[in-house]
Amino acid sequence: MSGGTLIVGASQAGLQLAVSLRQLGDTEPITLVGEEVHPPYQRPPLSKEFLTGETDLEALALRDPSFYADAAIGLVSGERVTEVALSPSGPPGSGTAATAGGRSFAFDRLALTVGAGPRRLTVPGAGLDGIRYLRDHDDATALRQRLGCASRVVVVGGGFIGLEAAAVARALGKDVTVVEAADRLISRAVAPVVSEFYRRAHLRRGTRVLLSAAVAGFDGAHGRVTTVELADGTTLPADLVLVGVGVLPRTELAELLGLECDHGIVVDGRARTSNPHIVAAGDCTVQPHPLTGLGRVRLESVQNAVAQATAAAASLLGRPAPQSAVPWFWSHQGDLKLQIAGLSGGYDQHVVRGEPDSERFSVLYYRQDELLAIDAVNSPADYMAVRRALAQGATFPASAAADRGIPLKTLLATTRPAAVPSS
Ligand code: NAI
Repeated sequence: MSGGTLIVGASQAGLQLAVSLRQLGDTEPITLVGEEVHPPYQRPPLSKEFLTGETDLEALALRDPSFYADAAIGLVSGERVTEVALSPSGPPGSGTAATAGGRSFAFDRLALTVGAGPRRLTVPGAGLDGIRYLRDHDDATALRQRLGCASRVVVVGGGFIGLEAAAVARALGKDVTVVEAADRLISRAVAPVVSEFYRRAHLRRGTRVLLSAAVAGFDGAHGRVTTVELADGTTLPADLVLVGVGVLPRTELAELLGLECDHGIVVDGRARTSNPHIVAAGDCTVQPHPLTGLGRVRLESVQNAVAQATAAAASLLGRPAPQSAVPWFWSHQGDLKLQIAGLSGGYDQHVVRGEPDSERFSVLYYRQDELLAIDAVNSPADYMAVRRALAQGATFPASAAADRGIPLKTLLATTRPAAVPSS
């Protein structure tokens, strides 16, 4: 009997890959193996509505429990794949995998959708109770419980996880301090003007923000954290610490298979790894820039997980590549709704539309007059206009875009061909 497709990693990308295979008419067996005991669920709410207690795991499920049997997708939960090898004599791409729990799976086709894990601090005291990370449901459940009885919360890392969780903690009335190593917030994703907006907005809501601040260690009593020590000698009392200092892509299985890795599993625009019979999708990958094809990027987003998984399914079945997609992303920090479309890396000019302190503004990014991206804060119309323009290969003249009185969509101008199919 055919081993069919084995998908290792049962989150957004893994589930999408299984669904896309069925949508493309694949009738071979599909096995989706995940380390977590929960069926695939949405992660973005974990640092927002789930943390506030407004939603629960059942509501986050990506599919109804009956879906898996109906679609003949064999979901195996609570099993971590630790060994994988290709068959030396079988068809290309076929092989076997084994789990830590002792199960083994034969496959004809392999997909890696193994995601990324939180980067851990290694400073003295980092193992004390009360120092938490946030990546999966169990992390979020534990954090939610701790948040209920905490009074002084220190958040290490002023990126997306840190600021979303800080907004929740502050809205619950906690004393909150954000400790960021860089000289501005969210520096990986946004321009300095947006970083400064977020610093001021969190301050207005009563959250302290320390920039260029290095955590030297943690002190505790009876095994529980009581103090965060900074390199400049400052001490911050804390009964709960949340660390959100970025993620590390999981590349162990890819390395076992001898696949090329470079801070992620290297894939092409069709989600094929350096062994074209094996695909990979989601946070574990690095890929060519989806709009320009130049350089490699790692896109940590739901949109990318879905788009890459769709491309991966087409590759496994030898079908044409889907149209490449404009990357988009969002972050809700309390009532501040940031929407990002495109990729701003390499910009040489930016235009601010509106007054940041009004908490409704957007920033458009350009390189050599070509529109690259937008960061829109509480400005969904600007976000949608830019997302559509990028998909159509259109732009807005930078000289006119700053006037918030003129709707962006009325300024549309065509400059380059629309996004092309991935090669
Ligand atoms: P991040 O890369 O967004 O931010 C990490 C921050 O920690 C950076 O500002 C960095 O300068 C800082 N940092 C690094 N080392 C530090 C140290 N030793 N001390 C203090 N600061 C330090 O990563 P983050 O926030 O951990 O998020 C993890 C992942 O979750 C990302 O992939 C992110 O995109 C994703 N995410 C997505 C959300 C969404 O869909 N809206 C929400 C939250 C997270």
